[in-house]
Amino acid sequence: MLVGLGPGSVDHMSQRARAALAEADTVIGYVTYIRLVADLLEGKEIIKKSMTEELDRAIEALERARAGKKVALISSGDAGVYGMAGPTFEVLFQAGWIPDSGDVEVEIIPGASALNTCAALVGAPLTHDFCAISLSDLLTPWPVIARRVNAVAMADFVVALYNPKSGRRTRHIQEAQRLFLAHRAPDTPVAIVKSAYRPKQRIEFTTLEKMADCEIGMLSTVLIGNSNTFIRHGLMVTPRGYANKYDLENATPHAGESAGRSLSTGLSGWLQTLRTSGQGAEALAQQYQLPTEYIQHILDEDAMLDDDMGQEAEAES
Ligand SMILES: C[S@@+](CC[C@H](N)C(=O)[O-])C[C@H]1O[C@@H](n2cnc3c(N)ncnc32)[C@H](O)[C@@H]1O
Repeated sequence: MLVGLGPGSVDHMSQRARAALAEADTVIGYVTYIRLVADLLEGKEIIKKSMTEELDRAIEALERARAGKKVALISSGDAGVYGMAGPTFEVLFQAGWIPDSGDVEVEIIPGASALNTCAALVGAPLTHDFCAISLSDLLTPWPVIARRVNAVAMADFVVALYNPKSGRRTRHIQEAQRLFLAHRAPDTPVAIVKSAYRPKQRIEFTTLEKMADCEIGMLSTVLIGNSNTFIRHGLMVTPRGYANKYDLENATPHAGESAGRSLSTGLSGWLQTLRTSGQGAEALAQQYQLPTEYIQHILDEDAMLDDDMGQEAEAES
């Protein structure tokens, strides 16, 4: 059983996660996670591993399971988000494991990941498109991380930065900040949540410009808002977009918009804008920060449609 423990407090674990720990003969995990659920582990075989021993944890779990033990391999948050699920399947496949073959059975038990729990503590920062990026370069080359940070910063995602800083990795958050500042305003809201739902929980609101000077550590998640995110009365909120369509005081749609229909600036509205702009693909591509080939394709498609319609009109007349 790959068990996601949630943020660390027993109150925020799922019922299935609790039951899995109760059913398990053996519990394997990073020392800190074992400590978090120590009260639930009485009478179990406990195997504590260090942070760098992820593959060992998975190998040990497989050996025990093949020997007939029911094993819980625990991760903080969700086991599938920068957790034990990936390495475990790699070890299983390496060992010739095939699902439903009579070999060991695997169950993945989801948990609330840091981005969910940290978001819940600061308001509603993830109510629009968001993504997670880990700044850890222990297994991922830095240019790959930098390219992803740059892409999401440019595309205006709300971003949850996992593994933002450690004793050894102190510069990464500054580099991420530099990439973000190339695309986003210096006063973009940022929340830094440390040890969510654990005894040493700490929440700090700051801005993109100042975030690298704040206290950030191994147990922090950094939430960076998009260009519409705001902080009010101690709450970080990313609007869902209702203000684009409705007058929020009386919930009536703005002129030209209607409930249940795409925005006038939705796909068909935008295609119409492109069609009537009189501009070439390159200029439009620059304006909308989209690939020229994509815009060209749309313009070509429209020209073909116009041609077809012209021919149809001629045939009819
Ligand atoms: C190896 S990742 C594990 C993520 C985990 N599987 C999850 O789904 O949340 C470790 C990183 O998760 C984040 N994290 C995990 N638990 C946290 C908590 N309670 N509060 C804040 N951040 C947390 C931090 O960014 C930390 O550096």
